[in-house]
Amino acid sequence: MQIFLDTGSVKEVKEAYDLGVLDGVTTNPSLIAKAGKDFFQTIRKMSKILKKGVVNAEVISTDTKGMLKEANVLKKLGKNVIIKIPCIPAGIKAVSILSKKKIRTNVTLVFSANQALLAAKAGAWCVSPFIGRLDDAGQKGMQVVNDIKTIFSNYGFETRILVASIRSTRHVTEAAKAGAEISTMPYAIFQKMFKHPLTDSGLKKFLEDWASRRK
Ligand code: G3P
Repeated sequence: MQIFLDTGSVKEVKEAYDLGVLDGVTTNPSLIAKAGKDFFQTIRKMSKILKKGVVNAEVISTDTKGMLKEANVLKKLGKNVIIKIPCIPAGIKAVSILSKKKIRTNVTLVFSANQALLAAKAGAWCVSPFIGRLDDAGQKGMQVVNDIKTIFSNYGFETRILVASIRSTRHVTEAAKAGAEISTMPYAIFQKMFKHPLTDSGLKKFLEDWASRRK
């Protein structure tokens, strides 16, 4: 499973990419606003860091014409930029047009298997089910991911599943078990993936024993 960071921070992308396990980044208008940096510069910088990865940058128009215009600007920011488009009829139309031109799209704000099916039919490169927000609303986010996986496999769709709105390391494990191609997560969750108390105590003991041997 590919690991993406869900962030507006160039620093976090650099730190994670240097570890050799980061495959891409997702951003959205909320994350970029939170980081407080220039949108275009941020995407350009992330695109340069991720030499072997992708950067998902979102349009803010809600009509097809506006989305296509923005997609044209965004794709010039880097060869590895994927256009993130909301799952509304105007967005699906934009995805159909862009996929025919071989421009990669990520259909975002997906909350049902039917929305994912429409995105795949339009030729989306990936779909982003928001599992944390579904859990928040009392639904089972991972069930939607499992349903999408079954549907894509039934019909041989090549559209990837990018599990988004991840809130815990448990979500990451569940996404991997479900066979999702990608998980995107906040930096704090990425850091937690490395951690286990037994690793820390085990390492401490190894080092103590090694030090005592030399006395
Ligand atoms: O990638 C989508 C993600 O940013 C949404 O996460 O935590 O705002 O639901 P959240």
